Amino acid sequence: MSHVIRPATASDLDAIGEVIAEQLEPEDVPEAAYTLEGPLARPGDWLVAEVDGEVAAFCLGCPCSARVGSVTMPALNIEFVATKKGFEGRGLQRALFAALSEVFPDALLHMITGIAYFYRRLGYEYAIPVPDRWSLPTFGVPDGWSVRTADAGDIAQLMALQARVQDRADVAFTHTADQWAWLLPSPNYRTVIAEGPDGPAMARAYTADADRAWVFEVSAPSPDGARAAVAGAAEGFERVDVYERPADRDDIVGTLGGDRHKSSYAYYLKVLDIAAVLSELGPELTRRLAASGIEAPESLKLDFYTSAFEIPISDGEFGDPQVIDHATYAADRIAVPPDLVAHLLLGPLGAEVLDERHPDIRTRERGSLFRALFPPLVGDLHSWIVP
Ligand SMILES: CC(C)(COP(=O)(O)OP(=O)(O)OC[C@H]1O[C@@H](n2cnc3c(N)ncnc32)[C@H](O)[C@@H]1OP(=O)(O)O)[C@@H](O)C(=O)NCCC(=O)NCCS
Repeated sequence: MSHVIRPATASDLDAIGEVIAEQLEPEDVPEAAYTLEGPLARPGDWLVAEVDGEVAAFCLGCPCSARVGSVTMPALNIEFVATKKGFEGRGLQRALFAALSEVFPDALLHMITGIAYFYRRLGYEYAIPVPDRWSLPTFGVPDGWSVRTADAGDIAQLMALQARVQDRADVAFTHTADQWAWLLPSPNYRTVIAEGPDGPAMARAYTADADRAWVFEVSAPSPDGARAAVAGAAEGFERVDVYERPADRDDIVGTLGGDRHKSSYAYYLKVLDIAAVLSELGPELTRRLAASGIEAPESLKLDFYTSAFEIPISDGEFGDPQVIDHATYAADRIAVPPDLVAHLLLGPLGAEVLDERHPDIRTRERGSLFRALFPPLVGDLHSWIVP
């Protein structure tokens, strides 16, 4: 069976909609419709795998932005992954994901949620946990606050409100303005802005479940602001589940009360090009080395078993990684298995815990340097869908 991978067009909508209704959720079809046809359509973002002229599989790439410490790099949030019944297990998603890296060559990091285990087969790691959430009955908007549904004219304000929380995270995957333009018209999600005496607040809610609203991306200047935004986002529901923001030191969501549910899921992340990401991370590694007080070595040698790099360090500043031969057992090398790269560069465990857990991480005489350069990181990730 041969297949063709190509950008989707509006004429694929019926076929894509049929598969979404069958394999994902019927209520997701309108989102596909307005991103595939009409003024918001962006040719190339949807990719289809066609078999004998039939749309057999597809996925959607949404460019987003990823900040790690002091550096920001382009990333990709992948959504709407589905293969038509009868065409599964033939490598169509593997081929689509390979094509995503060609269509979005600038995206150095990929993020995706859902389909347990599957994306691991494609090199993705469960690197950052989904935040915990609180379940509680809904409540009213506090006196003195008003709430309205956000529209395209609010995108700059929404981005500023998200930056207020995300600026406190070590790792932030952020909706770009283009991505907001795609999120706001969704009939399955409601984004609100609340205004009141403490300043503006916002929240997004998934509203396509009958029994409760799922509220996330809460940014508020005060507990009342959070109540206003959550009440507005969950309007019409009797129950609400609200996701925490791990980077929010004020724990605004926690002030709402309710029953806390520990997260049992995680975002999948993939580092597409280790050398390019290490190169981007240079200024951040320089900053971490300086903060550690450790004397700078001449270089950092990182061996990922399937590839190895030496990063020159001159006057404490990290240069561009150079490819070197493997020598995983060399005393001046740090060895890290390639399926832990996203954990190491982006995740909350940090080098120390990863080293304790994984015997094939080998640090030898570079242990303290390794721990200083790759500390535990707090992530705040935004994807299209409710986490
Ligand atoms: C899961 C799904 C996207 C896989 O698509 P696919 O086109 O069959 O995937 P591929 O054939 O490209 O599979 C790639 C690899 O993953 C494996 N794989 C496929 N489905 C898998 C699954 N559900 N779990 C684990 N591995 C799976 C394949 O065997 C293949 O392995 P290999 O390349 O090492 O041999 C498809 O089955 C689907 O649309 N399922 C319904 C959607 C769904 O499950 N949604 C969950 C709610 S979000």
